[in-house]
Amino acid sequence: MSEASSTRLIAANAAGLAKAAALLRAGDLVAFPTETVYGLGGDATNDRAVARIFEAKGRPRFNPLIVHLPDLAAARAFAHFSPDAERLAAAFWPGPLTLVLPLHEGAGLSPLVTAGNDSVAIRVPAHPVAQGLLRAFGGPLAAPSANPSGKVSPTRAAHVLAGLEGRIAAVVDGGPCAVGLESSIVALAPPRLLRPGGLPAEAIEVCLGVPLTTGPDPSRPLAPGQLASHYAPAASLRLNAAAPHPGEVLIGFGPAESATLSLSTSGDLIEAAANLFHILREADALAGPSGHIAVTPIPERGIGRAINDRLRRAAAPR
Ligand code: TXA
Ligand code: MG
Repeated sequence: MSEASSTRLIAANAAGLAKAAALLRAGDLVAFPTETVYGLGGDATNDRAVARIFEAKGRPRFNPLIVHLPDLAAARAFAHFSPDAERLAAAFWPGPLTLVLPLHEGAGLSPLVTAGNDSVAIRVPAHPVAQGLLRAFGGPLAAPSANPSGKVSPTRAAHVLAGLEGRIAAVVDGGPCAVGLESSIVALAPPRLLRPGGLPAEAIEVCLGVPLTTGPDPSRPLAPGQLASHYAPAASLRLNAAAPHPGEVLIGFGPAESATLSLSTSGDLIEAAANLFHILREADALAGPSGHIAVTPIPERGIGRAINDRLRRAAAPR
């Protein structure tokens, strides 16, 4: 999909959902209604689709995204459910509750979805159109709110078009969202409310039988150390390298003859974002624990800003 192509408005009927699911399987982005707000959906197992979500929203950072699934049985494939998590899911799914749970490594999620963390945020939306789309697609959908970064969340298809027209393949029009406020986000062990939202905290506390502590607001960027601590390579990292120093593993962007690995040989920023977490791991393995990695300059535009933000965190002194 090119950025100049226009965004189609798709009707929320069986034929429309089949069309939307086909676009998603092709790696395109489709906005869809949930009972909270419209989500900007992409195949959560497809690195390029997830990279495009960040590109379309103009997000300057790789914040982790919520993974949407049709039911608890499907969700169990992607995360570990403790007894508390099972209790909350049984009580409030489908509905406006997102659970942050330990990730099942190897379940196939793009590392961009979790921003390289070992936890994953999972939500089972109640909206019949979201349910229909998830079942037609048959896999996990990564979906932040369908608005440009820093703007208000959309509760109608027209709001999505106002912000993202020409940047995404389609919007499924399911009318206005009933809740109009994002989902409540809860992490467990110990129970913590990361974001107040559509499900009242009191209801969650009654279900768990203990009070929730309130944590940092995840709608704001995570503190630099939080992400870096999970995903800094063991090797040292040098940015904006013109050429490798002796013993360094060089990660290139665009044509770079001395590069061992490349984020994108053609200089495609979306491809580079899609490859970022895989290549960092590979470079780390090649360099070894006290080794050295260098990266050639990445342009500070579009999704390049998020790539540079992530690289700066990984390169920060620790
Ligand atoms: O109601 C909603 O939750 C909507 C609809 C579309 O489902 N989605 C939504 O997504 O509000 P978004 O990306 O706008 O907000 C998701 C929040 C972010 O602040 C992110 O930091 C947090 O969830 N989040 C995602 N994964 C996380 C994780 N593994 N740990 C902690 N926070 C996480
Ligand atoms: Mg949002």
